[in-house]
Amino acid sequence: AKPLDRMISVQAALSAHLQAAIRAAYPEAATVVKVQLTSSAKEEFGDYQCSNAMSLAKAVKLQPRQVAAAIVDKLEAGDLIEKTEIAGPGFINISLRRQPVIEELNRLLVHGVRPPPVDRKRRVIVDYSSPNIAKQMHVGHLRSTIIGDSVARLCRFLGHEVLALNHVGDWGTQFGMLIAHLKDRFPDYATKCPPIGDLQAFYKESKVRFDSDEQFKQRAYAAVVSLQRRDPDSTAAWKLICDASRKDFQRVYDRLGVENLVERGESFYQDLMTEVVDELKSGGHLVPDEGRLIMWPPGCDIPLTVVKSDGGFTYDTSDLAAIRQRLFAESADWLIYVVDIGQGVHFKGIFSAAEKAGWLNPAVARVDHVGFGVVLGEDRKKFKTRSGDTVRLTDLLNEGIERAGAKLAEKGRDKELTPQELKAAQEAVAYGCIKYADLSHNRNNDYVFSFDKMLDDRGNTAVYLLYAYTRISSIARTANLSPDQLLKLAKSPGITELQHPKEWKLAKQLLRFADVVDKLTQDLLLHSLCDFLYETACVFTEFYDVCYCIEKNRDSGEVIRVNHWRILLCDATAKIMKAGLDILGIRTVDRM
Ligand code: ARG
Repeated sequence: AKPLDRMISVQAALSAHLQAAIRAAYPEAATVVKVQLTSSAKEEFGDYQCSNAMSLAKAVKLQPRQVAAAIVDKLEAGDLIEKTEIAGPGFINISLRRQPVIEELNRLLVHGVRPPPVDRKRRVIVDYSSPNIAKQMHVGHLRSTIIGDSVARLCRFLGHEVLALNHVGDWGTQFGMLIAHLKDRFPDYATKCPPIGDLQAFYKESKVRFDSDEQFKQRAYAAVVSLQRRDPDSTAAWKLICDASRKDFQRVYDRLGVENLVERGESFYQDLMTEVVDELKSGGHLVPDEGRLIMWPPGCDIPLTVVKSDGGFTYDTSDLAAIRQRLFAESADWLIYVVDIGQGVHFKGIFSAAEKAGWLNPAVARVDHVGFGVVLGEDRKKFKTRSGDTVRLTDLLNEGIERAGAKLAEKGRDKELTPQELKAAQEAVAYGCIKYADLSHNRNNDYVFSFDKMLDDRGNTAVYLLYAYTRISSIARTANLSPDQLLKLAKSPGITELQHPKEWKLAKQLLRFADVVDKLTQDLLLHSLCDFLYETACVFTEFYDVCYCIEKNRDSGEVIRVNHWRILLCDATAKIMKAGLDILGIRTVDRM
C-alpha cells in the first residue's frame, strides 16, 4: 500500500529505477552519473524521456543507442512503467501505466494534496524579512518577505517543523543618536507615549544633528554606552523607538497575510556574542589585524570582523552568534537565510566559519542562503518614485489595491459582485499580483517591477491564475454537486478511465506537482512552481475545450449528462492549484 500522507513523485520513482539500471549496466561509469529525466514535450515521445545514454556513450566509448538498449535491458518496470522505446540518437522514452496514475489521483481526491516524501522531518529556521528599526522597510525587504514567507510555507507543507524568524536590525550605534534625539524632542517620553508618526523623518532629523552638532554627538555616544549597560531609561527609550517601527512593519505583514513570523532581532544575540568571541578565541580562530580581531573562513577571500578595534561587535559577530544559537539552542537542522544576493559573501563566510568552529556539520544540518536580485523600475534603473525617493511600501500596496480595483471595474465585476466579494477579489488580485510577479521570476536575477505587467490577465500572472482557479473550482457547482457529493464520487467509483489524450495529459500534469515540489526542496527556486501552475491552467484549458464535463440541453439549459470522472479531474486540478497558490502565499477567492 502507498503511504497516504505522501504523494508519489513519478520523476523520483522513475529516476530511482533508471539510476539502478544504469548502475547495473555500467558499474564502472555509473557512480558519478546523475539521471537526466524530463517529462516529454510531445505525446509521441512517451510520458518521460531519459537522455543519459548520450553522455554515457562517450565515457564507455559505445554508440548511444547501444547504451540506451543496455540500460533498458536492466530497467525494472516496477508498477509505473508500461513500455519503453529507444528513439532518435539514444533517448529512452518511457510510457507510464494508467492505473497507478488513476489511483494516485483518487487518493488525492479523497485525502487531499500531500507533499512528496522527504529524507527526514527537519527543524527548519527561516530567517526572512528582517528590516531595520527606524529605517525605511524597502522593496528589498519586501522581496525577502514574499520569498521567505513562501519558503516557510513550502517547508511547513513538506511536514517540517518551522520557526520563521524576523532578524530585525534593532541594535547598533545608530540607536545612540535616536535615543538622544528622543530625549530632547519628547522629554516626558517615559510617562507619555511620544507621537513619532514618521520614524524615517525622525531618523533623518537625528542624523542631521549627529553630523553637525558636536555636543549632540557626544550625548549620542553616551547613550550607546548606557544602552549597552542596559540602563533602564535608555532601554525604555530604545523600546519606544522599536515599537514605533514594529507597528509600521506589522501593517505590511497584515496586509500581505504574513503570519507566524517571530521577531528576534540582533539585540537578542547581544549576550551570546561575548560567549562566541571567547569560544573562537580559545579555539585559536581569531587573528589580530590593525587592532581588530578577524577570522578567515576557509575558502573565503574576505575575513569576518569579529571584534572591532574599539572592542565592539559587528554584523558578522551577531550572525556568528545567531548561527550557533540556532544550531545548538534551537536544535535546528536546516537553516535558511532569505537575504539579498549582495550579502552572499557575508553568508558564505558565516557558514564556512561555523563549520570551522565545529558548530556546523554539513552532513547533519543543511544551510541555504536564499539570495535574490534587486528590484528595478520600468526604466531598468533602481526602483524609485518619480521624484527620486525610495518607494514607501504602504504607497506601493495602496497603488496595487487601486489598480486592482480599476482592473476589476474594467471587466464590469464591480456590478456583478457583492461589496464584500469585490473587496476580497481586489485584495486577492493586488497582493497576489505583487507576490506572484516576484516569485515567478528566477530570484537570482534582478526583477522589473511593473503594475501593468503583473495585472495583465493574459500571461503568466496571478490575475490569470486566480481567474482560472475560480472558474475550475466552480465547475462541480454548475453540475449541482456539493463537496460531499464530490467526495462520495471520488471514493466510489472515483476516476475510472482516462481515455481521451487530453484527459491523460491533464492527469500526468497534476501528478507532476509532486515532482515540482521535490525539485523546489532542492533548489528553493519558487518560479518553477509558478511555471507549473501556469502550465496546469493551460493544460486544463486544452482539456476543457474538447472534453465535455457537463452536457446540457441547449434550449432549456437542463443538465442531461454529467461525466463524473471529468468533474473529478476538474476537482483534482482545483485542489492542486489551490495547494500551489497556498505555498506561494496567494489567497484565492470563490468569485471574482
Ligand atoms: N537587517 C539586514 C538588512 O536589512 C538583514 C538581516 C538578514 N538576516 C541575517 N541573519 N543577517 O540588510
